Amino acid sequence: MKASSKKSNNLQGTVTCPGDKSISQRSVIIGSLLDEDIQISGFLFAEDPLSTIVALRNLGHEIEIDNDIVSVKNSRKNISDQKVSCNLGNSGTGFRLISGLIAGQEIDAELTGDDSLSKRPMNRIIKPLNEMGAKIESNKGCAPLTFNKSQLVKEFLYEMPIASAQLKSCLLLAAISSNMKLTLHENKVSRDHTERMLKYFGANITTKKYEGMQDIILDTNNKLEAKDYSVVGDFSSASFLIVAALITKDSSITIKNVGINETRFTLLEILIKMGSNINIKNHSICCGEKVADIEVSSSTLTGISIDEESIPKIIDEIPILSIAASFAEGETSITGAGELRFKESDRLMAIEEGLNKLGVSYKSSDDSIVIMGNRDLNISKEVNIESFGDHRIAMSFLIAGLRFDSEVHVNDCKNIDTSFPSFFETFSSLGADIKTI
Ligand code: S3P
Repeated sequence: MKASSKKSNNLQGTVTCPGDKSISQRSVIIGSLLDEDIQISGFLFAEDPLSTIVALRNLGHEIEIDNDIVSVKNSRKNISDQKVSCNLGNSGTGFRLISGLIAGQEIDAELTGDDSLSKRPMNRIIKPLNEMGAKIESNKGCAPLTFNKSQLVKEFLYEMPIASAQLKSCLLLAAISSNMKLTLHENKVSRDHTERMLKYFGANITTKKYEGMQDIILDTNNKLEAKDYSVVGDFSSASFLIVAALITKDSSITIKNVGINETRFTLLEILIKMGSNINIKNHSICCGEKVADIEVSSSTLTGISIDEESIPKIIDEIPILSIAASFAEGETSITGAGELRFKESDRLMAIEEGLNKLGVSYKSSDDSIVIMGNRDLNISKEVNIESFGDHRIAMSFLIAGLRFDSEVHVNDCKNIDTSFPSFFETFSSLGADIKTI
C-alpha cells in the first residue's frame, strides 16, 4: 500500500491518543499470569497487540474481545502441555516478552515472525534465558526459536549489556512466571512499563536509582492481585501528531490522554528546548502510568545536540525527530543510536535514504546522524520514499510531506497498521492532506 501527503497548513482540532502499543501487549501478557479474570480498556487494536493475543491463546490462555474491552480469563490452568507454535508477525515486543513467559512456564514451543522480525537479533534474549536454565535453539541467533521445556534457576543476577526494555521485560517475565529472584542492572535506564505494571498488580519489585543507572529487584513469592487495567495513550503515536502541528503553518491541536511516563516522553523535553509551543495539562495517573493532554501549535525550531543517555528514551521517536530537525535552524546531532539499526528496519539507513530524497543535508556514522536543518526546506518535484516496511519510517516521511509544495509518496505503508491503524483518519480529521493510494 502506497500513501502520499502534500502541503497542509492550519491543522486544527482535538483528538484522543490511540492506546499504547507496548502497554497493551504487556497488559494481556501479565494479565495471563493472574488467578482471576480482568478487563482491559483503552487497548490498542492494532496488528502487534492482536498477534500477542493470538499467541497467548495458542499457549492456552482464554482472551475475549467484546466491543472495546479485552477480557483475560483466569486461564493459567489451561496452559498447553503440547508443543505450541506462535507467530508474532512484525512485533519484536510480542516476540521477546512472550519468549520470557514461555521460558518461565516451561512450555515446549516454537516462535516465528515475519521477514523483518526474522532478521532481528535474538541472542540478546537467548543468552541470558539459557543462562537461567532455559533450552532455546535458534536459526543463527534469529527466529524461529525453539523452546525445549526446562526448569529455570531460583536466583539470577544480570548486568544488561544493552539498554533494551524488551530484553529487561523478557527476563522479568521469565522470573515472575517461574518464581525466581531476579536482579537486573541497567547502565542506561530504558522504558519501565513492565516494572510499573508488575507493581500495579502487586508484585514484589523495587528499583534503586543511582547516577543515571538503576538496579531492578524482583523478589520471589509474588501473589499477583487481579484488577482491571486501563491502557493510556501511546506517546510514540502522539509524537507524529505533535511534530505535524509544529512544522505546519497556523496549526494548533490538542491530543488527549497521552502517556507521559518519564522513560517515554523525553522527545517532548527535546522539542521544548528546540523552541516548540507545547503545553501539557490535565495531569493524572492511570494504573501507575502518568497521563496528560498535550496542546501544540506551529513553532520555529532550532537544532539541538542530544546526549546518549536520552537515546533509549526516544528510541522510537528518532525518525520523527529527524523530520523536526530537518525544518529547524542549525544542526541537530543524535549520537550513540546504533540500536536503531536493529528495529523493524535499519532505521538509520532508512532515515538517511528519505532525507536524501528530500534534499536534507546530513552527516552520519555507524551509530550517529547530524542533520543540518533548513527552515525554508522545499522540494520542487514529487518524490518517492521507501518505508522499508517500517511503520515509523512511513509515518515520519508522510508528516514531512505536509511542508512541501510538491507531493511526497511513501511506498509500502501497510505496516502503519501495526501501531497506528487510525493514522490516516486521525490526520484527515485535523485537516492534513495525507491519503492512501
Ligand atoms: C519496546 C522497547 C523498545 C522499542 C519498542 C518497544 C517495549 O525496544 O523500540 O518499539 O515495548 O519494551 P528496545 O527497548 O528493545 O530498544
